[in-house]
Amino acid sequence: MSVWHIAGGNRLEGSTTVQGAKNAVLPIMAASVLAPCETELLNVPMLRDVDTTIRILRGLGCSVERAGDSVNIDSGYIARAEIPHSLMRELRSSVIFLGALLARCGSARLSMPGGCELGPRPIDLHLMALRALGARIEESGGELICSTPGGLKGAAIALPLPSVGATENAMLAACAAEGETVIMNAAREPEIAELQAFLVKLGADVSGAGSATVTVRGGFAAPERVGHRIMPDRIVSATLLAACAAAGGEIELRGVEPRHFSTVLHSLSECGCDIMSNGASVALRSDGNLKAPMPVITGPYPGFPTDAQPLMLAACLKARGTSVFVENVFQNRFRFTEELQRLGARIHTEGRVAVVTGVARLHGAPAVATDLRGGAALIIAALAAEGETDILDSGHVERGYERFDECLRSLGADITLTDTKGP
Ligand code: EPZ
Repeated sequence: MSVWHIAGGNRLEGSTTVQGAKNAVLPIMAASVLAPCETELLNVPMLRDVDTTIRILRGLGCSVERAGDSVNIDSGYIARAEIPHSLMRELRSSVIFLGALLARCGSARLSMPGGCELGPRPIDLHLMALRALGARIEESGGELICSTPGGLKGAAIALPLPSVGATENAMLAACAAEGETVIMNAAREPEIAELQAFLVKLGADVSGAGSATVTVRGGFAAPERVGHRIMPDRIVSATLLAACAAAGGEIELRGVEPRHFSTVLHSLSECGCDIMSNGASVALRSDGNLKAPMPVITGPYPGFPTDAQPLMLAACLKARGTSVFVENVFQNRFRFTEELQRLGARIHTEGRVAVVTGVARLHGAPAVATDLRGGAALIIAALAAEGETDILDSGHVERGYERFDECLRSLGADITLTDTKGP
């Protein structure tokens, strides 16, 4: 158990680079299993989720070396196509290994990934897509026992909704499917294009990522070695900008792709922040006195990202007027608002809608991080509050934010992270 201790009231000033994208590196690490080769990944963030993925790769028989922000994976030998239940529970998104293992080994055994703090996290679309490619998937005793008795065959897959994970799993399995696979209503997130870029380096014939239709022509010969630098994390970028908007100040993010979070920039600009961006950096200036933006309505990319909703909501707690948030992607993504109310926030939630009434001030208070982005939202609110806040965290924030305390301190925040060595 860790405690984030924040003394609110400091403005944020300065510039920083942004870590590699968690939601890009995880599927790419799974994709490294597709073929026997050595993969060198650069700009890999130091996160709990990355550590868990490294343990999964080693459990499969890969050798994995980490040095700073680089991770080297040798997938020359796969000893087993199974992921233990304990690791599946630690990282539900490890279901992404299903497509890669079916492609490489023709079989896979892993437990059903549990739900999480955001509500149920079904994988029915993943299984539908993989079955369309010829996979036989039996669900028994909470386990998925998968095989490809007749091999994987290309297919036309129409996703009922543009699931990021299902799109990624289908892409990975399709790389080993005979013939052409067309994934329709594919997710369009930047992380999908990043995965495609890696697969092309691996020798696979993948195109269309970023649009609603991704095409894969199966069968490829991988090079002995492949290298890839992970794109910057657009949600961490949004987090830092929201923190500066709330606390006041002026920060610059270097080495980012502003177009990947343009909807967030637009809402922050509506709040009254000054935003200056060019191809690879973005700067935000705020006096901390914000006004309510137009309603923030989340949706699949290029809509407002669901992961940035808690961050934007926290930035609006003191905004003049009433801010409205509609969460269309996950069922239960407002739990963190109960914790924000301990700091004096006025928030009413009804189903998928949260209504924030701006307050003149927030005050420090003890609180608990309920999930990854909810925990980050609490930190943002504490930075803008008067007094001291202690946030109890069972490791949620560190799943997605690399040395977040150091990063915020470098920008002038009064924040420390203590590991209480508790359960
Ligand atoms: C990815 O999750 C991200 N995680 C999430 O980031 C992100 O919030 C989400 O995409 C949406 O952008 C990673 O990339 C590791 P989905 P994923 O499949 O793939 C439903 C974070 O904070 N659905 O696009 O699980 C699902 O219940 C995390 O970094 C089905 O019904 O998201 C949800 O309502 C949180 N059946 C919606 O689709 C399925 O088979 C979107 O889920 C799959 C999904």
